[in-house]
Amino acid sequence: MPAINGNRFVVVGGASLLGSNIGRRLLDAGAGEVILMDNLALGSASAVEDLVTDERCTFLRGDMLRMNELHDPFEGASGVFNVAGFLGGPMLANPWMGLDVNVRGIQNVLEVARVRGVGKVVFSSSIGVYGRIGDDPCTENAPFDWNGLGPALALYSGSKIVGEGLCQLYHRQHGLAYAALRYSNLYGENQHKRAIDATRIVNAWERIRAGQSPVIEGDGTNVTDFVYIGDVARANLMAMEADASGAYNIASGRDTSFNELVAALLKACGSELTPEYRADDAKVANPVVTRLGISVEKAKAELGWSPQVDIEEGMRRLVAWLDAERAKGRA
Ligand SMILES: NC(=O)c1ccc[n+]([C@@H]2O[C@H](COP(=O)([O-])OP(=O)(O)OC[C@H]3O[C@@H](n4cnc5c(N)ncnc54)[C@H](O)[C@@H]3O)[C@@H](O)[C@H]2O)c1
Repeated sequence: MPAINGNRFVVVGGASLLGSNIGRRLLDAGAGEVILMDNLALGSASAVEDLVTDERCTFLRGDMLRMNELHDPFEGASGVFNVAGFLGGPMLANPWMGLDVNVRGIQNVLEVARVRGVGKVVFSSSIGVYGRIGDDPCTENAPFDWNGLGPALALYSGSKIVGEGLCQLYHRQHGLAYAALRYSNLYGENQHKRAIDATRIVNAWERIRAGQSPVIEGDGTNVTDFVYIGDVARANLMAMEADASGAYNIASGRDTSFNELVAALLKACGSELTPEYRADDAKVANPVVTRLGISVEKAKAELGWSPQVDIEEGMRRLVAWLDAERAKGRA
């Protein structure tokens, strides 16, 4: 499978939280050329401003829904990272566009990758493909249970299942290698406010820096699995290089309650404040869960990947980035 060193890669959705971090890793790993393609529908050019100072890296404004715009960048590419996607919040705001991007977008990427002889496609999927997680531990064989999911998550999760199905189809019919990476909640440098759980963290940071208690909606025992963005970017590169095709959970494998998250955040901020508890009135509420148990054993065995940055260290890095953005007047 394509080695990173010396080769050319395209990141579709390159101005995203994840795409920009994959771009950084690719450059650090010695990629010969990195093209960050994005139509800036959601992402921001500021996420890639440091990267494009490297002469191997180009930002290309382009739309994956226009298949013709993918041909030139994919020509001669060893691999493509398809990161572009609409999360639950943007999906709720614009379901037509969200479904187009999450379904037609990956279909275009796979088709042009096939035509242009790209070696492998790494697709950004989600643990949303399980819907309500029931199996413990939650392996890649767990079924999709969408009973009780709100429409945003049902549409988002369904669109990722279709995306994975298209990857499987191209693999079987045309031999195109792929990896579908099912992420839990991403957080870290270049954090945005498009994912509901990570947004709660950024909101809590804003309050702490304003000298106010961070707010916890509900009793804070609801758990999530937060995985640090650098670990996820590393997983993308390892999946690109691995001699394997298939789907992999990419998560911390550790359930973290919101109470624990806020405690880690307060510590990272060096704050003595204590949380304030309020009723949960989230508009795109995830189902309340107290146990997830995401298994990352398959990624360990087949990709050699496991998470390295724990929540305490990850929060320190997120706070350092948020504080720096604030100093630049951008957060
Ligand atoms: N953020 C999370 O917690 C999370 C969790 C699980 C899975 N994921 C998946 O991982 C991927 C990356 O997440 P993220 O948070 O970095 O996303 P993001 O919202 O930061 O970025 C999505 C990017 O796609 C771009 N885009 C949208 N439509 C496009 C089009 N037609 N052509 C080209 N670019 C287009 C946007 O401008 C944006 O830069 C997504 O596919 C998402 O569904 C994210």
